[in-house]
Amino acid sequence: MVKPSLSEISRYALSHPSAIREIMTIVTDYKLHPEKYPKPLIYLGGGWPQDPPPPILLEHYKRLGENREHFIESCRYGTTRGQPDFIESLVDYEKTVFDREIEDEEVVVGLGSSELTAAVFLATLDPGSEVVVTRPYYLNYLRQLEIELQRNVRVKYWNMIDEEGVFSPNLDELQNLVTHNTRLVILAIPGNPDSQILDDDVYEGVVDLAEEKGFWVLTDLAYRAFIYTDIPSYMRRKRRENELLMVSLSKELRIPGWRASYLVADTSVCKAVETIEQARTLCPSRLVQEILASIFSDKDNLKILREFNERSKVKYAQVASKTYQSLLQNLPETLALKPKGSFYVFFYIGKYMQSSKEFCDKLLKTEQVALAPGKDFGMEGWVRLSFAPVVEEPWLIDEAIRRMKEFIETIR
Ligand SMILES: Cc1ncc(COP(=O)(O)O)c(C=O)c1O
Repeated sequence: MVKPSLSEISRYALSHPSAIREIMTIVTDYKLHPEKYPKPLIYLGGGWPQDPPPPILLEHYKRLGENREHFIESCRYGTTRGQPDFIESLVDYEKTVFDREIEDEEVVVGLGSSELTAAVFLATLDPGSEVVVTRPYYLNYLRQLEIELQRNVRVKYWNMIDEEGVFSPNLDELQNLVTHNTRLVILAIPGNPDSQILDDDVYEGVVDLAEEKGFWVLTDLAYRAFIYTDIPSYMRRKRRENELLMVSLSKELRIPGWRASYLVADTSVCKAVETIEQARTLCPSRLVQEILASIFSDKDNLKILREFNERSKVKYAQVASKTYQSLLQNLPETLALKPKGSFYVFFYIGKYMQSSKEFCDKLLKTEQVALAPGKDFGMEGWVRLSFAPVVEEPWLIDEAIRRMKEFIETIR
């Protein structure tokens, strides 16, 4: 029997596993055999919020199930671009919950922002194109660029953190990276893993440069509901022409499993993404759109969602601050970045161990605390602590930092 071979890109992916995936293997083993490990696991590895979705989501989910006609309708295929009433309701959702004006013709709905981002890559990049990502970066962008473009795009890195460990993005550095082949600059605001926010001058400077040189700015807003400082004005104004705004509902509505997202972009990009998705997904989830449209099309519900955001922002900000303060007091050498948003504290462990993967592996094996290695985000010597999985049990963070301190004492 002759066994057919795998593609080149899958051989490449298999031989370059992500460090986080390997940590996850140990976490899975812990779940199956906790008796093998001396202490209960404290999982601070992933970016999944622990708290439940707003109750109104469950109410409308049940309501849809109780109406046979609507239920059957929601089982059918939908339009590739997204259901018209859902898109219409997004205009109100943006306005009431996030103070932003958008037009319905600049929206295309997706099956989660990861899928939609992949479609944006196909819609905007050619072999040989250049893409600038900020460093540290959200690790999936690189994986997706490699897979979607068969490793035929050139990725350049715009450093966000200087040698002293300070977040200090510099527009001149970006300017030096941009060439006539640059098609896309990707920004996540607030960032993952650094939890920082570009200020108005830097952000508008990037969009000015995009207009001057002719590239797109893909702004990933997955954590926009988790901003612990003043909201920058670029988050409240209308989209500028070269901006592609990627909205994920995974975190802000606590529904990562529903795979709900949308892109707000130039109509040419929306049309291209829609055509590409006709061949990839056929349509976003009809059921999810039906549930969300029934919520978003009512002003009182939108107010409820806005209040939910405001309340949870306070809760997350408290846990963010507590985590940062505790690291500062117990491990001051780690140069932790103070979170301005998102769920993460990113800090430097290079003084104790150069390999972030080895640090995370050993910490997990000896102390059962799971963190994510910075290597996967483009910064060796750093690690990411996610407080989202314990946001309802913040005392676990004290315990995790106590264990980390003990571990560091043993390796020092
Ligand atoms: C910056 C960033 N963008 C996008 C995503 C993925 O979002 P989605 O669930 O919409 O695919 C994540 C997930 O952690 C993320 O951190």
